[in-house]
Amino acid sequence: MKKIVCDGYDELSRAAADIVAEQVSRKPNSVLGLATGSTPLGLYSELVRRQSAGEIDFSKVRSFNLDEYYPISKDHPQSYNYYMRENLFSKVSFASTRLPDGNTDDPQGECAKYDSEIEAAGGIDLQLLGIGINGHIGFNEPADSYSVATYLVKLTESTLAANSRFFANGETQPVSALTMGFGAIFSAKSILLLISGQNKAPIAKRLFQGKIHTDVPASLLLLHPNVTVVIDRAADGS
Ligand code: F6R
Repeated sequence: MKKIVCDGYDELSRAAADIVAEQVSRKPNSVLGLATGSTPLGLYSELVRRQSAGEIDFSKVRSFNLDEYYPISKDHPQSYNYYMRENLFSKVSFASTRLPDGNTDDPQGECAKYDSEIEAAGGIDLQLLGIGINGHIGFNEPADSYSVATYLVKLTESTLAANSRFFANGETQPVSALTMGFGAIFSAKSILLLISGQNKAPIAKRLFQGKIHTDVPASLLLLHPNVTVVIDRAADGS
């Protein structure tokens, strides 16, 4: 696991953009695995800026997102579909983009289809990840066992509480999600994990202990041969 420590969030976003840009210039038809949440927002705006400046070309890039709430409509402002359109896809033109369909009435069928589409694309070249304060990646929550396939997962209280700020008072918050399992994530040839902010310091510390903690899903990443962690000082505690 390679670690890049940045002074602050802006530097982290630029360092992450350098890694994405390097991937896309080396392989213009790369398959990118994308994430949502607050951490990659700076990266996405930096990618938009670099594309406007003609420094990067996404026109051959295909993308698959990690996850989507379930059930939720594509146009719900808290859906990850909406987030991706707002922050990236409406500003940068990709060859294709795909998120799990949070509106399907056949979640199992949708999950199986998602995995076969990723496989048919040749797997993911670069997978972007954030980390939950409980160590989740995608929506793979701490559990007794972990799914290899994309699946329908019930969100934990900790994740629901962390994300409740995004839902208006009285609005029903989805309690489940469709998420890539460890199969698609580990099929990625390289992984870029972003960790920012003081509230992530305790989980970052556990990750860097170099041990697989069965209650920290992200610690499984220690087994992947090509992971780069870009972390800011607040999260690194340095
Ligand atoms: C998002 C995702 C989640 C987030 C994690 C961190 O697609 O899969 O695992 O990466 O919850 O979220 P933030 O960045 O908001 O702290």
